[in-house]
Amino acid sequence: MAKRRIVSFEVNGDNVEVAVEPRQTLLEVLRDELELTGAKEGCSNGNCGACTVIVDGVTIDSCCSLGVEMEGRQIKTVEGLANGTELHPIQQAFIDNGGLQCGICTPGFLMSTVYLLENNPHPTEEEIRLNLAGNLCRCTGYDKIIRSVQAVAGTS
Ligand code: FES
Ligand code: FES
Repeated sequence: MAKRRIVSFEVNGDNVEVAVEPRQTLLEVLRDELELTGAKEGCSNGNCGACTVIVDGVTIDSCCSLGVEMEGRQIKTVEGLANGTELHPIQQAFIDNGGLQCGICTPGFLMSTVYLLENNPHPTEEEIRLNLAGNLCRCTGYDKIIRSVQAVAGTS
């Protein structure tokens, strides 16, 4: 086993220190070391978006970044959206509009929506579809997700 390195960063407002193997992806660090299992492993190669988290304000595929690269970074995961038992407005909008799909794709869709609305609070349908283009669903569809984003953005 390769020698672990201590890496310090912030996750959902909490400072953490983790002993990370050089080969571990951020997704593996979140899931296996920090027990934050909201981000999912779909493809492991940057194509499906199931592992999407926000690092320093930008969405990334956590399967394609190394944990050791996270020193000093601020990370937001789907676990950080709700405020106690109160859901984030985006989570509630996905429930209310049927955009809540399976546990594999939904966390990524939510995080990409958080990023979109933080940077563009009133996106057009085209901008929503473009922003979510990196998040794949293999089984149902996208329309209810688009309607959910429009609902929370007040553009439906
Ligand atoms: S698991 Fe990371 S993009 Fe698919
Ligand atoms: S991959 Fe989640 S509902 Fe299709």
